[in-house]
Amino acid sequence: MQKLQERYGFLPKDALMKLSKDVGAPLSRIFGVATFYHQFKLESPGKVLISVCMGTACHLRGDANNYEFLRRFLRIAPGKSVSDDGLFSLEKARCFGCCSLAPVVRVGDKLIGKATPRSFRE
Ligand code: FES
Repeated sequence: MQKLQERYGFLPKDALMKLSKDVGAPLSRIFGVATFYHQFKLESPGKVLISVCMGTACHLRGDANNYEFLRRFLRIAPGKSVSDDGLFSLEKARCFGCCSLAPVVRVGDKLIGKATPRSFRE
């Protein structure tokens, strides 16, 4: 499954069905593993990955508001992680190790500290 994810950037349904046949495991079990581990993605990723830290310091300083604001701003449907235009992926992440800057959001390789809806627009 890790090799499939490396190849495609996510786990396409057809590839999981083939894997199920190849290893002789029920598809439900394959999906169970794919959905259990956070590293596996079932949607094709967007070009730009945005990660909202949900660690304790960021949580206490407003991360939930940032995540919800970005989800709506990027027009990502509830339960989905990629914008309709395929440009942005949005995910919840754990501590980035720079809690003094909380709340923190990572856009690609760039960390944004003391992030607010205003800083995203800028
Ligand atoms: S809790 Fe968000 S950077 Fe540490």
